[in-house]
Amino acid sequence: MQKFYLVWDESRHALGIPSIDREHRGMMNLVNELSEAVAHGCSYAQAHRQMEKILDFAADHFAHEEAMMRQHGFPGLEQHAAEHEKLLREAAILMEMYDPAHADRAVLVTAFLTDCAESHILHEDRAISQYLEERGIREE
Ligand SMILES: [Fe+2]
Ligand SMILES: [Fe+2]
Repeated sequence: MQKFYLVWDESRHALGIPSIDREHRGMMNLVNELSEAVAHGCSYAQAHRQMEKILDFAADHFAHEEAMMRQHGFPGLEQHAAEHEKLLREAAILMEMYDPAHADRAVLVTAFLTDCAESHILHEDRAISQYLEERGIREE
C-alpha cells in the first residue's frame, strides 16, 4: 500500500514564525502518524479518531493564523480564511465517505491531508510570513 509521508524540511517549510512553524510540524507529525497507522492496518476506529484529532488541530491552527493576519492587517485575510474553510469542508466530506464499510478509503484521506498540508504551507501560509517580513514585524 502506498504510504503518504511528510518530511519537515527547514529550508522549504519554515516560515520563521516560531509558533506557526511549531504547529505546522505538529500537523505533519499527526498526519504521518495516521499514514503509519493506516499502512499498518489499524482499525477503522483508530484511524477515525486520529482524523478527528487532525481536524481539531487544524481548526485551532487556522484560528491562530487568522488572528495573526487580522492583528497585522494582512490584506489577503479573507481569501486565506476562505481557503481554510474549504480545506475543513473538504476534509469533512472525505471523513463522511470514510465509514466502516469502506475502511480502505483511509488512504484517500491521508493522501488528501498530506497534499493539502504541504501545499497550503508552501503557498498560502508563506504569504503571511512574507508580508510580516516586508514590514519588519517579528511574531513569536
Ligand atoms: Fe498553516
Ligand atoms: Fe493557513
